[in-house]
Amino acid sequence: MANNGNAHGNVWQFKGNTATGDAAAVALRKLVFKMFRNYNLNSGKPILAPSPGDPSASPSFRTCPVAEEAVAAAARSGMANSYAPSPGILKARRAVADYLNGELPAKLKEEDVYITGGCNQAIEIVIDSLAGNSLANILLPRPGYPHYDARALYSCLEIRKYDLLPQKDWEIDLDGLEAAADENTVAMVLINPNNPCGNVYSYDHLNKVAEMARKLGIVVISDEVYKHVVYGDRPFIPMGIFASIAPVITLGSISKGWVVPGWRIGWIAMNDPNSILKSTGVIQAIEDCLELTPQPSLILQEALPDILEKTPKEFFDKKIKAMRHSVEFSCERLKDIPCLFCPKKPESCSYLWVKLDTSMLVNIKNDFEFCMKLVSEESVLLIPGVALGADNWVRISIGTDASVLDEIFDRIKTFYDRHAIRKLPNSMGLLQIYNDQEMEICFS
Ligand SMILES: Cc1ncc(COP(=O)(O)O)c(C=O)c1O
Repeated sequence: MANNGNAHGNVWQFKGNTATGDAAAVALRKLVFKMFRNYNLNSGKPILAPSPGDPSASPSFRTCPVAEEAVAAAARSGMANSYAPSPGILKARRAVADYLNGELPAKLKEEDVYITGGCNQAIEIVIDSLAGNSLANILLPRPGYPHYDARALYSCLEIRKYDLLPQKDWEIDLDGLEAAADENTVAMVLINPNNPCGNVYSYDHLNKVAEMARKLGIVVISDEVYKHVVYGDRPFIPMGIFASIAPVITLGSISKGWVVPGWRIGWIAMNDPNSILKSTGVIQAIEDCLELTPQPSLILQEALPDILEKTPKEFFDKKIKAMRHSVEFSCERLKDIPCLFCPKKPESCSYLWVKLDTSMLVNIKNDFEFCMKLVSEESVLLIPGVALGADNWVRISIGTDASVLDEIFDRIKTFYDRHAIRKLPNSMGLLQIYNDQEMEICFS
């Protein structure tokens, strides 16, 4: 046996994989944890919005009894205790196909759908299935949902960004997207309804996206996890409608629509009427990836058909009404906080995506510092835009009860007042900048 020099027991031949650290560094959960550590436990104030993007703790956003009963019945049945097949059980796959088919010209069959542990696992599987060629790259939106970045980094898929345009209702900059692509681009990710911007794409725009994907020879990964959280005037259009132009892989879950992100059940749907995903081996790669990963809970798979088919419309209507109220209320309260500006009232999802003007603040250089100080001084956790790819923007989670929202905006306002710049003439008549504390010293 080779001598590894460990005679004294202090030489170890293993070390942690740093690739995981690089990928996790861009993941949202890691950032939230970091921000949480800045929370002052002795402040006497409970932390608000500690779990961004998850309204499930609020009584107004409790899931519907039909869904709870479906899960309980599956657990009690004694028929959901075994391992599930890797692609998911047929009745769950069929239920998802039926659920998505309503709007689609080329209908999905049960074998076109795979069941996953929430939408995040769907993202992981699809990214892994497209990686492999060391030169390959993927087009991701900016701003965007960082799990795509984390998983692409982890799978060694080069990331190229395309912009969403605030002045055009957050439409995709299609010229920029085309310029970012090359002969090694394999896919683009579209998030519709959009987290964090809160827009919904029009039929015409999605049509143009499909035409562009065809021109570039790439597949569209359409993340539709927020399909049931649309409360504006523009209806949600599934990207699968355009699958005859370019192939579309639709990702979804019940996490947002039913407000049960902890249940971990989602899907991948292959909209491939021209069999392009089949002939290029992508379907095989997805099926192989599914063999390598744990199957989602059989209890949830058994319950899924009832959840999708029997949830009454009133449940969604009530949730939409609550979200509309949160948006109106939040936009009104935002008017009292001049350093934050929302260019477009959201029509979907559960966030306000707001521009931060640091020139109105003293000693706050950027969005990250703003959020770190806010959590430490006021125990309010917002997501800095830099985590979603956009400097000096901030994401505020507004899917919560009115009383909590009221408190969140009171505290942000207090924070703003404490850090806001005041301009007064100094002894030489020049305008000098002060914040609140300095003003107090000046005038005490
Ligand atoms: C755009 C987007 N996709 C996917 C997910 C993850 O969904 P799930 O909870 O089903 O894994 C989220 C969660 O916030 C999201 O915002």
